[in-house]
Amino acid sequence: MNNPKTVLVTGANRGIGLEVCKQLAELGFKVFLTARNVHAGEHAVAKLKSNGHDIHFIELDVSKEESIKTASQKFSQVDVGLNVLVNNAAILIDDTNIFNANTELLIKSLNTNTFGPVNVINNFLKFMNKGCRIINVSSGAGLISNMISYAPLYSISKAALNAVTKQFASVLAGKKIAVNSVDPGWVKTDMGGRGAPRPLSKGVETIVWLASEAPIDLTGKFPKDKREVEW
Ligand SMILES: NC(=O)c1ccc[n+]([C@@H]2O[C@H](COP(=O)([O-])OP(=O)(O)OC[C@H]3O[C@@H](n4cnc5c(N)ncnc54)[C@H](OP(=O)(O)O)[C@@H]3O)[C@@H](O)[C@H]2O)c1
Repeated sequence: MNNPKTVLVTGANRGIGLEVCKQLAELGFKVFLTARNVHAGEHAVAKLKSNGHDIHFIELDVSKEESIKTASQKFSQVDVGLNVLVNNAAILIDDTNIFNANTELLIKSLNTNTFGPVNVINNFLKFMNKGCRIINVSSGAGLISNMISYAPLYSISKAALNAVTKQFASVLAGKKIAVNSVDPGWVKTDMGGRGAPRPLSKGVETIVWLASEAPIDLTGKFPKDKREVEW
């Protein structure tokens, strides 16, 4: 049997990240489920393992450089390459509007939602080769072309994440490593809330497609429902 494809997902103890792990494990991926909360992460792994999936836990707090470095060292001990990296972890901590923007909360949002993915990519890129893919889970809230006053700190951090996607897509084009942002839509999770119209299965559809099927020359793009949207 060929070696299974590997995927590492950040912020995967619940919500979209957990569902991505589950679906990719079902497709035969060797899954590295990461979370900042060890108890929650190990619990999620144990649950998926009981279904017979090839799934492993690594502690990873994307807001802490030391944690990212340690996670990358742990991954190197497994001695497999990394086919797909999913930067999923994020926070939505806006408490007010742009007139009262709180610098501390803006820095916190950027640290997790934007610098986190940059640091994760820079620490895990050494495990990735031609034909591999990086998926940055962004949001419609980060679209400059369609931006409204909703959650300004979160929106700014996701717009900046989209710029991160373009930067890495540009420098990795020569190596044939694809880099995409993805918009899952408004999804029923702790972040999306109970009133969200999309079930988890729909929210992860494009992420799973990018990880498993999408052509590698689809890079530097921002798909939603498997179709490119304007940044
Ligand atoms: N739900 C939606 O409607 C929606 C819409 C557009 C985009 N998105 C995006 O989809 C992704 C997943 O969102 P979700 O709806 O699944 O959110 P969620 O239910 O709130 O889950 C967020 C996950 O990120 C983790 N996380 C937060 N900060 C972290 C850190 N510093 N290090 C590691 N993990 C961290 C959380 O871990 P803890 O359990 O430890 O807090 C949790 O596992 C996010 O990038 C979000 O912006 C969601």
